[in-house]
Amino acid sequence: MEALECIKTRRSIRKFKNQAIEHETLKAVIEAASMAPSWKNSQVPRYNVVENSDIKNDIAENGTLGFAHNKEIISGAPALVVVSVIGNRCGYEKDGSFTTSKEDRWEMFDAGIACQTFCLAAHDMGIGSVILGIFDEEAIAKSISLPEGEKVAALIAIGYPDQQCEAPKRKTVDDLLRII
Ligand SMILES: Cc1cc2nc3c(=O)[nH]c(=O)nc-3n(C[C@H](O)[C@H](O)[C@H](O)COP(=O)(O)O)c2cc1C
Repeated sequence: MEALECIKTRRSIRKFKNQAIEHETLKAVIEAASMAPSWKNSQVPRYNVVENSDIKNDIAENGTLGFAHNKEIISGAPALVVVSVIGNRCGYEKDGSFTTSKEDRWEMFDAGIACQTFCLAAHDMGIGSVILGIFDEEAIAKSISLPEGEKVAALIAIGYPDQQCEAPKRKTVDDLLRII
């Protein structure tokens, strides 16, 4: 798939076929996501892929802050990616001070780029995805025994699509662009 076609045809997919994603395919998606740019090439995002249905159901039940919409998406997805970041690296100088006024927010910036790169690569390989931002960070970290020093940045539900979606309305180029 051409890059522009991939960018323009990717949609958030919330209904999935009851079909596991082959680990080789999953690895190919992660390899592509590893090419995402990052703060000083720090590469802090990690992809914790939850296939175990007990753990996935625990996240759906106890890690969605009571948001039934996300609970349903997670329950119906064959896998849930918990995107985590290694803390205290992104946005920092070697002496531990912040490089810019954005302090450690570059960490979430990098996580965002990583998520989009992941979702585009997945789309290219026929895998649907939706980024989920409403979740209980602490409950999920506990549920997957996240290593010390890592934080949950985002969730991505993934699987083979069982729906076709139109793109939600976008702002026009004139709305978005300012040439200065
Ligand atoms: C940071 C972020 C958080 C999101 N959180 C949720 C969510 O909690 N639940 C959900 O169903 N979709 C979520 N989405 C998906 C958006 O609703 C979706 O990207 C948007 O409506 C545009 O649709 P499209 O991705 O199909 O172009 C999130 C997307 C982003 C980037």
